[in-house]
Amino acid sequence: MIQNNKKDYILMLLRKLQTDRTLKKTEFVELLKNRELIEDELFQVSKEIHVKNFHRKVYVRGLIEISSYCGNDCYYCGIRRSNLNAKRYRLSADEIFEQVRFGTSLGFKSFVLQGGEDPGFSDETLIEIIKEIKKINPQTAITLSVGEKSFETLKAYKEAGADRFLLRHETRNKEHYYKLHPSDMDQDFRLHMLEDLKKLGYQTGSGIMVGSPHQTEENIAEDLLFLRKLNPEMIGIGPFVPATGTPFENEVSGSAELTVFILAVLRIMFPHANIPATTSLATLSKTARDRAIEIAANVYMPNLTPTYRRREYNLYNDKACFEVEAAENLKQLGKIIEGIGSELVMDRGDYSE
Ligand code: 5AD
Repeated sequence: MIQNNKKDYILMLLRKLQTDRTLKKTEFVELLKNRELIEDELFQVSKEIHVKNFHRKVYVRGLIEISSYCGNDCYYCGIRRSNLNAKRYRLSADEIFEQVRFGTSLGFKSFVLQGGEDPGFSDETLIEIIKEIKKINPQTAITLSVGEKSFETLKAYKEAGADRFLLRHETRNKEHYYKLHPSDMDQDFRLHMLEDLKKLGYQTGSGIMVGSPHQTEENIAEDLLFLRKLNPEMIGIGPFVPATGTPFENEVSGSAELTVFILAVLRIMFPHANIPATTSLATLSKTARDRAIEIAANVYMPNLTPTYRRREYNLYNDKACFEVEAAENLKQLGKIIEGIGSELVMDRGDYSE
């Protein structure tokens, strides 16, 4: 009986979430803590919104990991500067163009340039690279994921042709932030930068790791409320996966199931947002990846880093980047997506309401 009342209450929260596209912090916490009670119903709601808005289309982005050098020392990340085991490389402009040409030949119209915060990669170089990519493939969308930058730099990237920027806030809670990052990092700068990106007209992406060490349900609720306020066009969330050589190497991975649940909550909150089924989710569970695509995620990011470098960009252990996670195996990915009842699409996939 008590259980039934509880279920009714959580169902009421689901209805409220559907109508208001948000909840109070305490309500989000209740929803997260009792997810087993209403998972089926919530997935149903999320799937309806997902199918209605994206018509079972999955947009692909070619992910080029441009540098594994990083000046930051985030405790979770395999390419943190103190990880002496990490292999370091920096792609040359020509290597990047080569990958863009290859991706273009495969039909990609959207590329993500991701890298550590590499002081050896100058703004000028990146600006030239952005311009040249737009010459190679004028139709393409360019997404940057290169960490914290000043307003002026972001403006220059934008003027050169960058369309989108991904910068996960990682966690909104300050205490939690400093359990994941050393004190020389500045959470406020990161949060302000997300505002800058919006002001500059970037399609802006943010997000978190699910199950990062010390994360609580309250933290996740705060993250959901932060995202509500920011209203990003893209949301990237994936489970935390330990990385050898980091302070968190012996921590447990985040839950793939909880990740899928949060993806569904996000789809209900942000019916039109571009939400990928992330590589870290695919790394932990193919079933969860497929479920995510079925009910919430409309983006997939096959790896388009040169194969001879791909193993050297290890944000976490055993990263999925060959097999269907590889751009060169796009056909196989297409089959998997068909198997889920969806269709792989090579369009830019811009945000639209
Ligand atoms: N597990 C999962 N995701 C990670 N990232 C960094 N390290 C890890 C890890 N160990 C994520 C961060 C970052 C994004 C590029 O990769 O959230 O923003």
